[in-house]
Amino acid sequence: MIQASEHIKSIKPYVAGKPIEELVRELGIAHPVKLASNENPVGPSPLAVSALRKGMGDLNRYPDGSCHYLGSALSGKLQIRPDGILFGNGSNEIIELAVRTFLNPGDEAIMAHPSFVVYSTIVQAVKGKSIIVPLKDRRHDLDAMASEITAKTKIIFIANPNNPTGTINTKTDMDSFMKKVPEDVLVIVDEAYFEYAVSPDYADSIKYFRRGRDILILRTFSKIYGLAGLRIGYGIAKKELITEMNKVRQPFNVNSLAQKAALAALDDEKHLERSKKINERGKKYLYKEFRSLNINYVPTEANFIYITFKNDAAAQLYNDLLKEGVIARPMGPRAMRVTIGLPGENKKLIEALRKILNRENFII
Ligand SMILES: Cc1ncc(COP(=O)(O)O)c(C=O)c1O
Repeated sequence: MIQASEHIKSIKPYVAGKPIEELVRELGIAHPVKLASNENPVGPSPLAVSALRKGMGDLNRYPDGSCHYLGSALSGKLQIRPDGILFGNGSNEIIELAVRTFLNPGDEAIMAHPSFVVYSTIVQAVKGKSIIVPLKDRRHDLDAMASEITAKTKIIFIANPNNPTGTINTKTDMDSFMKKVPEDVLVIVDEAYFEYAVSPDYADSIKYFRRGRDILILRTFSKIYGLAGLRIGYGIAKKELITEMNKVRQPFNVNSLAQKAALAALDDEKHLERSKKINERGKKYLYKEFRSLNINYVPTEANFIYITFKNDAAAQLYNDLLKEGVIARPMGPRAMRVTIGLPGENKKLIEALRKILNRENFII
């Protein structure tokens, strides 16, 4: 049998969650609550759904490979020239395009841990080397990351807000970090949860792009816009970088329905505001209930909360929650990430936690 290259064989496969229907069948629970993937519990924008219905008649045609209409709408909204925006099959694809374009075998990419797992997988797939810097106080330790820069460093990944901790790096943090990064190192700032962040200290990384820095800012329609199933995200970078990434991009990487839905969702301020409000309310409710249950949590700027345990409780708690019809995401032995859901979903999570924790012998 043909063998994969050694650097591919050693990649740890991404473990996808089971389809919800499968869990329903296995557990015999009619309506499980899915709080595992940081999706928008409100659903997609109604304007996007209606655009999808209208767009289905054209499915025999290939999509517009340049995402022209969406690009010009976004360009107007962000006040960025269209040639500074690149669309992808989710922002995941943009991460892949950037790594394939700019990282040679043996080059180094600096990233935090725990952070979004996809970065290191893609780096390894092109025979690059991931330099992993642990979080400090649950945040990217930007000083430590800057001190890891060598002549081999090509890319630095910063998830802001970070997944799984929901923490941010502030304007001041980012300003002093950017001063330490050489001009020819690409800083990839992954802002998948940008629209959820409420802190006035949250950094606006577009300003570094406007100053002509080698920065790639990633945003997505998968989170607050509620279009995760369609796979569409984008990157913002200077034209010269986008021109190179475009050379390795598949010509029809973003499907036509995704383009139409994203265009409609972009203007749906009502859906955006409602989603943000529901997230904020859910956040406050969960904080209060976590405190009353003595559960440690990390204050979040995203649509999920990272909770931590004193013991190796995550695997058992995950299984116990499943039996109660709640799907969360264990993060190593002593942490778990829960997406903020609709009010009823949050309540179900808290009731399940209370029931489990009240049981004898369960110490977290
Ligand atoms: C930090 C971060 N970046 C990127 C993504 C991927 O988003 P997309 O659906 O746009 O590929 C996620 C999704 O969970 C994420 O948490």
